[in-house]
Amino acid sequence: MSATSPHDRAHPLFARAWAAAMVRLQPGSMLEQRDALAAGLHGTVVEVGCGSGTAFRHYPPEVERVIAIEPEPYLRRQAMRAAAWAPVRVEVRPGVAEHLPLDDASVDAAVCSLVLCSVPDQAAALTEIARVLRPGGELRYYEHVAEPAGTLSRRAQDLLDATGAWAAIGGGCHVARDTAAAIRTAGFTIDRERTETLGPPLIVPVRRHLLGVARLPA
Ligand SMILES: C[S@@+](CC[C@H](N)C(=O)[O-])C[C@H]1O[C@@H](n2cnc3c(N)ncnc32)[C@H](O)[C@@H]1O
Repeated sequence: MSATSPHDRAHPLFARAWAAAMVRLQPGSMLEQRDALAAGLHGTVVEVGCGSGTAFRHYPPEVERVIAIEPEPYLRRQAMRAAAWAPVRVEVRPGVAEHLPLDDASVDAAVCSLVLCSVPDQAAALTEIARVLRPGGELRYYEHVAEPAGTLSRRAQDLLDATGAWAAIGGGCHVARDTAAAIRTAGFTIDRERTETLGPPLIVPVRRHLLGVARLPA
């Protein structure tokens, strides 16, 4: 399989900083979220935007195969290394969420962790995820989202997104997306969802995180 793709998106500084942070700085709470995100999965899973492969070790043995898509070349190389040590079979492939290199209805579940903030076209990515999921398939997500409208924190987020300042240092990350609404608009029903709040308001622009399971109609 080709090691590159016309969809490659290089963010060399962000990629190295993210990979290092995932080795050295991952808080215990994030490890718990990653466990919860993967718990109960089985069959074939697509992990969209797998980064350096930090989630691989959290998949339970009932998962037969993970197809991990990553457009950033440095992160993809790190993910390939992580795949070699994963407790389940993981294939790392180039690609982007908006054009997944997978057949229609070919996977049982999709996993997005801190990715739907960064995809350039969130609606297209979610439509594409729905395409590759089998009927009744699950989307597991752990994503930071917009603060409530009208709050000072939200105004600060809107400013960061409008200036592009956060995206410039964060590999294209947007801080004020209403990801749960976008998931519903793409045809999913949210089965369960909980909100985790990390850090103090204003100081941390990516404070509100959603951990959820959404499902396509059977
Ligand atoms: C903050 S990192 C999270 C990585 C990993 N999911 C994790 O939880 O550690 C965001 C990831 O989204 C990826 N990404 C950005 N745009 C993407 C796209 N259009 N399709 C798929 N992945 C994308 C980046 O390359 C990066 O790996």
